[in-house]
Amino acid sequence: VPDRDLALTVNGRRRRVRVEDRQLLVDVLRDNLGMTGTHIGCAGGDCGACTVRMDGQITKSCLVLAASAEGADITTIEGYSPRGTLDHVQQAFWDLDAFQCGFCLPGHLFAVRDLLDRDPDPGEDDIREALRGNLCRCTGYVNLVAAAGEAARREREDQER
Ligand code: FES
Repeated sequence: VPDRDLALTVNGRRRRVRVEDRQLLVDVLRDNLGMTGTHIGCAGGDCGACTVRMDGQITKSCLVLAASAEGADITTIEGYSPRGTLDHVQQAFWDLDAFQCGFCLPGHLFAVRDLLDRDPDPGEDDIREALRGNLCRCTGYVNLVAAAGEAARREREDQER
């Protein structure tokens, strides 16, 4: 039974939804707001498929009670690239075949974006550490790590122009 009004901003748009106290943020994003690019893999905080950005922090939305997101500013994968063009992370993932089925992709993009925003020149260890919370069952991580490094290189090149 719906029992609480929740006001939050999702991908730059103020939204108000009626949610149950026990509902998880990932379910509200998917079921109430139609943001089905936020995936559910493990539902237990291990796989990263449900990653969103919440108030600037990458967050596993399966671990967040929706009620605690009152007033939060959330970006889902649908809002990752607001101008509708690929950023360097997305483009490098595409160019280097860094994903196969794509189920884990939203989480990996957010993880790499977050890393490059903090560190424009990460080493391979930094990239692997940043991707630690995101599981991929297809690729074996080699192309993921290479794509993250390539995205960083392209962004630095852009900065130098
Ligand atoms: Fe949230 Fe796996 S579904 S971490």
